[in-house]
Amino acid sequence: MPDFHAAGIKVIHKAVSVRHVVKAQSLGVQAVSTDGFECAGHPGEEDIPGLVLIPAAARALDIPIIASGGIATGAGLVAALALGATAVNMGTRFVATTEAPVHDNVKAQIVANGERSTQLVFREFKNTARVARNSVSEVIVKLSQRPGATFADIADFASGTRGRTEVLANGNVEGGLWWASLAQGLIDEVTSCACVVEQILAEAEQIIATRLPSYLAAPNIRSSSVDV
Ligand SMILES: Cc1cc2nc3c(=O)[nH]c(=O)nc-3n(C[C@H](O)[C@H](O)[C@H](O)COP(=O)(O)O)c2cc1C
Repeated sequence: MPDFHAAGIKVIHKAVSVRHVVKAQSLGVQAVSTDGFECAGHPGEEDIPGLVLIPAAARALDIPIIASGGIATGAGLVAALALGATAVNMGTRFVATTEAPVHDNVKAQIVANGERSTQLVFREFKNTARVARNSVSEVIVKLSQRPGATFADIADFASGTRGRTEVLANGNVEGGLWWASLAQGLIDEVTSCACVVEQILAEAEQIIATRLPSYLAAPNIRSSSVDV
């Protein structure tokens, strides 16, 4: 690795498995960003969700963890902190903001979509990607599952130009692949980045200040019953 430290540059390595963040720490990075299986983009081939990835990484590391994958709420932030992260990053949540330089149709589709509205593509080629489920992602999965299929069979459907031009610029959400995560199921409105951050922090503070202490205030947390 080049000597980033000498140039005063901090390195954050992004990874989807514990062994890879351990390797990154051994090479001297200052922090890692762990992407749980819920994430948009490339979740890897091992399918470890944040609920296990974050604490498993925290056990193995001394450096800070920035958690990501499926986080879009204050509850997600608090959960990530409880699991051992020191911060979170969010991709899909920030796409559905007024500032995001993508067509309004994409933002509206994220709001309309739910947690089931994603699809894993490129699995057969060991380059798994999580995208918003649409007719193009469905065709890609079907073609990829044919015996002997190669990437060439789907290259046209998967082209980045389609995604960038047709979807993100022109707003045709069925025009190509576009990245989105399970977090779509938690996104109810398009608002500014400042509002997103403020709402998440307010919800996190409320949970920490009210909901969590209520468990400690119960006569005995081990025997507290669940009202049904
Ligand atoms: C529109 C979009 C573009 C992305 N582009 C990249 C990228 O170029 N490189 C990368 O490592 N991750 C990329 N990601 C993944 C994010 O950095 C982040 O790891 C992921 O979105 C976290 O999951 P979340 O969407 O549930 O918050 C992208 C995500 C989205 C939604």
